[in-house]
Amino acid sequence: MGSAQEQLRTWWKESSVYQIYPASFQDTTGSGTGDLKGIISRVDYLHGLGVDIVWLSPIFPSPQIDMGYDISDYKSIDPIYGNIGHVDELKDKLHERGMKLVLDLVVNHTSDQHEWFKESRKSKTNPFRDWYIWRPPKYDAQGNRQPPNNWESHFQGSAWEYDQATDEYYLRLFCKEQPDLNWENPAVREAVHDIMRFWLGRGIDGFRMDVINFISKDQRFPDSDKPVMKGYEYYACGPRCHEFLKDLGAILKEYDAFNVGEMPCVDDENEIIKAVGADRGELSMIFYFEHMALDYGPKGKFSPGTWTLANLKTVVNKWQRFMYENNGWNALYLENHDQPRIVSRFAYDEPEHRVASAKLIAVFHAFQAGTPFIYQGQEIGMTNVPKEWPIEEYKDVDCVNHWNSYKDSPDEDLKRLVKAEYQKKSRDNARTPMQWDATPQAGFTTSDKPWMRVNDNYTEVNAASQIDRRRSVYHTYRLVLEKRKQYKDIFVYGSFELIDEPNDKIFAYKRRATSGESALIVCNFSLDTVKWKMDDGPKEVLFTTSDRELSQVSGGELSLAPCEAIALLL
Ligand code: GLC
Repeated sequence: MGSAQEQLRTWWKESSVYQIYPASFQDTTGSGTGDLKGIISRVDYLHGLGVDIVWLSPIFPSPQIDMGYDISDYKSIDPIYGNIGHVDELKDKLHERGMKLVLDLVVNHTSDQHEWFKESRKSKTNPFRDWYIWRPPKYDAQGNRQPPNNWESHFQGSAWEYDQATDEYYLRLFCKEQPDLNWENPAVREAVHDIMRFWLGRGIDGFRMDVINFISKDQRFPDSDKPVMKGYEYYACGPRCHEFLKDLGAILKEYDAFNVGEMPCVDDENEIIKAVGADRGELSMIFYFEHMALDYGPKGKFSPGTWTLANLKTVVNKWQRFMYENNGWNALYLENHDQPRIVSRFAYDEPEHRVASAKLIAVFHAFQAGTPFIYQGQEIGMTNVPKEWPIEEYKDVDCVNHWNSYKDSPDEDLKRLVKAEYQKKSRDNARTPMQWDATPQAGFTTSDKPWMRVNDNYTEVNAASQIDRRRSVYHTYRLVLEKRKQYKDIFVYGSFELIDEPNDKIFAYKRRATSGESALIVCNFSLDTVKWKMDDGPKEVLFTTSDRELSQVSGGELSLAPCEAIALLL
């Protein structure tokens, strides 16, 4: 067991990250899609919020089948976003303010329009053939052609795509336009290392690494007997994953670069700690997924499920303690471009509760142990898309593929049910344009046709109305991030202890520095006023969502309003 004393102290633990989804952040050309100049124009906004690192979702040339997570050239910029000069300018602007710029490294797969794949599919003898994962078909008893195994794509259907020209299948764990690279081939690994050096050499400060634990596949490619997402047990943290990650880690270390690995589909903590343990030289921190699956149903994301505070406590407690005790590190996130809005998910997005809910989430989130990630719009309490939006407003390939397999069903009830799940969990919920102000299109674009519709609540929910209001959601995030830095021995390097676990309304936890100094965070996730007994006498109110004075909280009992949250120095 480690302790905070032994924990590696480093800048990326003390930082916070802001994720930008470039298509939806700020358009400066009137195209209806955000661009790099738009991001540059908002650097001061980000600086004002107090975030340290800016991560951009992919900006590289791409057919945009999966919104840039299908890259056709890793060393230039998609013209819809600008050019490489804009990246340099953004980086310089951030660096001038002591901030950093991180890019998205998507190297489990490429676009099918990448030159490597265009070559690879030409013939079985092409020098690039072995850069991807090709296998011959199988034939069933009736002589029908079948994929090489039963693995499933994360975006519905088989994970294998048949290619007529050479009568073979290629593996694609996501869309058919996203063929998986063959990391067994040393030339592929070299090419990835070269991409990393290219950007690090240009002064980029690191990477978020897309599904990085999928890069090594079990080369036997066995059939799976899992009920959902068949096959993941053979490639999530596959046989050579850690070997490959070590190579990436060595390059990152040379540049003291930031990195965070996305690691879905792993249940085994031992595999995770191998990737993120401080002494391992692989990843700095990881995104775990357990809390994001709490509202999944028996058939996965789009099947109805209900989250409970008890389950959220179990998952948060597990990862908070596990990383601390094993010298690993959590990337703390509640939203990103793949998840619905957290206010709509774990709190209450009705107009009368939305602001309190968003502040509650800010306190709950950013005082935990790990590096906090804030997704664009989270800091102003943006919500899921309205329930009334028709299916045509949903653009995400995952959601659209899913709908295509239901839309012709004669069962109207089933279709209603499925659509209700999209409004709760589709990735589209996070991809609506950033709500800057109350002008048309929320100040996101001058076009009257943004690539994705602006959420109708923008006149109420927008950044401009919050920046000048001390009690806004925006300032809650700003202040919480500030306190986290001010008391870093507690909030960055301290231990985590869940308090009052059986309580089904209150999520309370303590953070303790090795010096013994500690803080108590109490969050009322319910819409009731809750009386809560405190064992400790607080010294100071560090943060309150309801303007509480110390005298109001020192009597041994707290009376918490609906969605109230408070952080106390003990
Ligand atoms: C990651 C990305 C997601 C993308 C997928 C395939 O999960 O975050 O947006 O669709 O990988 O690249």
